[in-house]
Amino acid sequence: MPELRENEQKTLLALEKLKGRAPVNQIVQISGLAHAAVMRAVLSLTENKLIVTYEQKQTLVFLSEEGNYHATKGLPERRLLNSLTKLGGEAKVNSVVEEADLEKKFLSVALGWLNRKGWATIQQGTLKSLKEPSLGDDEKLLQLLTKKSSLIVEELSPELQKSISVLKGRKLVEIKEKTLRELELTDDGWTLVKKGITVQEEISQLTPELIRTGNWRNVKLRRFDVTAPGPVSYPGKIHPVQQIIQHAKEIFLEMGFTEIRGDMVETAFWNFDALFQPQDHPARDMVDTFYLSKPNQGKLPEKAVVDAVAKTHENGWTTGSRGWEYSWSPEEAKRLVLRTHTTATTIRYLTEHKEPPVKVFSVDRVYRNEKLDYKHLAEFHQIEGIIMDRKVTLRDLMGTLKEFYQKLGLEKVQFWPSYFPYTEPSLQSTVYVPELKTWVELCGMGIFRPEVLAPLGVKHPVLAWGGGLERLILLKLGIEDIRLLYKNDLGWIRRTPVCQR
Ligand code: PHE
Repeated sequence: MPELRENEQKTLLALEKLKGRAPVNQIVQISGLAHAAVMRAVLSLTENKLIVTYEQKQTLVFLSEEGNYHATKGLPERRLLNSLTKLGGEAKVNSVVEEADLEKKFLSVALGWLNRKGWATIQQGTLKSLKEPSLGDDEKLLQLLTKKSSLIVEELSPELQKSISVLKGRKLVEIKEKTLRELELTDDGWTLVKKGITVQEEISQLTPELIRTGNWRNVKLRRFDVTAPGPVSYPGKIHPVQQIIQHAKEIFLEMGFTEIRGDMVETAFWNFDALFQPQDHPARDMVDTFYLSKPNQGKLPEKAVVDAVAKTHENGWTTGSRGWEYSWSPEEAKRLVLRTHTTATTIRYLTEHKEPPVKVFSVDRVYRNEKLDYKHLAEFHQIEGIIMDRKVTLRDLMGTLKEFYQKLGLEKVQFWPSYFPYTEPSLQSTVYVPELKTWVELCGMGIFRPEVLAPLGVKHPVLAWGGGLERLILLKLGIEDIRLLYKNDLGWIRRTPVCQR
C-alpha cells in the first residue's frame, strides 16, 4: 500500500463521514481542502483503487437578465391580460398598456403571445379577453427560478422541461452543461478507513528553523513528483539573431581579431570605386543599390588617392593592368549609398591603417534593393574581415575561415574558385549542412588586387572575405524563411532555445 499524502487522507476521511459516497463539492466542504487539492487527491486515490468516481452530466437552467426581469414582474402577456381583466375584459390596446404600465419594447411580444396562447383577440385596436388562464408551465418555471438561481433540468417534470425550450427561444433562460463527480469508497478504501487514518500534517517547505533545530527529522516532509510537468516559463532572453552575432564576434575575438564598425551611409567611392568596380558595373545600378536623395553627395578622400583610383580605373595606372578603359567620373563616386557590403568598411579602415599587421572584422548591416521573399531581405548583416601582413597567402585565408566555421559547429568546408572585381584569386566557401544533406554557399573571399591596393598605398598582401550572416543563422536554427528572423513572431522567439550549439 503506497503511503498516503495528507490531502488524500483528508479526502478519505471526508468520504467516510459522508457514508462512503458523495459529490466532490461536499468533500470540499467537509474536508476543508481546496477543490483542486481534492481533485489531485482523487487522481491518486483512484489510481490506487481506494475510490471510484462516477461522472454524471447535468444540464443547468438559469434566468437571463431579461428573464429575471419578467420572472419578478410577470410575463408581458400576463401583465396585459391582468390589466384587461381589470378594465372589464374589453378595452383599447392603449389603455390596457397604460394600465399595465408595460414598457414599449415588450408590446409586440406581449400581443403576439396573447394571441398564440389564445388568451385574447385583437380587432381594430381593441383587445378582448377569451379566458382566465391559470399559471402556465413557463410561468411556473420562471417562478421556481426566482427562488433558486439554477435548476437541474433532468430533475424537472416533463412539462417544465418542455417549457424550457420555449423560454430559451424567448431568450429568457440559459442552459449550461456541468459534470457532476461523485466519489465512492471501494472495498479496499473501506478497509483502510476502518483501520483508522490519523491525518499527519505534511511540511512542504523546509525552513531554516527546521534545519537549525534538527526538527526536520521529526516532521513529515511532503513528497514531490519531480517528473510531473511544471508550468512552462518564458524568461526574457536575447533575440536569436543577436545571440548568433555575439557568438560570431566571440569567435573572431578568440582568434585574435579586432572589431571595427563603419557608417551605414557611404560614398560610392568607398563602396565601389576604391574596390575597382567600374562605374558602369551592374551592381551599381539603382535596381540593386539604394542611393540617397538627400543629401545625395558625400566627400571624396584626399586628391592623391582619388587621382590614383581614377587613373587605375581609366588605364591601370602603375599597376601593370589596362584598367577598365573609360573616363572616370568624380561625380559618380561622390554619390551616397546605403552600403551594399561591409567591404566598404574594411577598405576604408585599411586606407587609414597601412602598417602591418592588420587583423579586423565587422558584423554589421548592409542594404540591397531586393524584392523580399523567403530568401532575401533588403536589410541584412554581413560578417566581414581582412588580414594584412607581410607574408600571408591564400592558405592562411582558407585556414582562418575553416577555423571560424568549425568553431560555429560546421565541420566540412570547401573552397571554390569565384570572381569579384576586387580580388584575385577569388574564392567562394561552401559548408556541408548534415541536416539538409547539401552544401551551402556562405561567403566570398580573395586577395585584394593591386588595382585596389596600389592607389590606397597599401604595400602588403591583404586577405579579405565577407558573407551574409542571416544564411548562417537559418542553417544554425534550422529555419527556411529568412523573414521569420525579423517578424517578432513571439511564438518562434519563445520556442528558440537560449543555448545554441
Ligand atoms: N563583398 C562581397 C559580397 O558582398 C564578399 C567579399 C568580400 C568578396 C571580400 C571578396 C572579398 O558578397
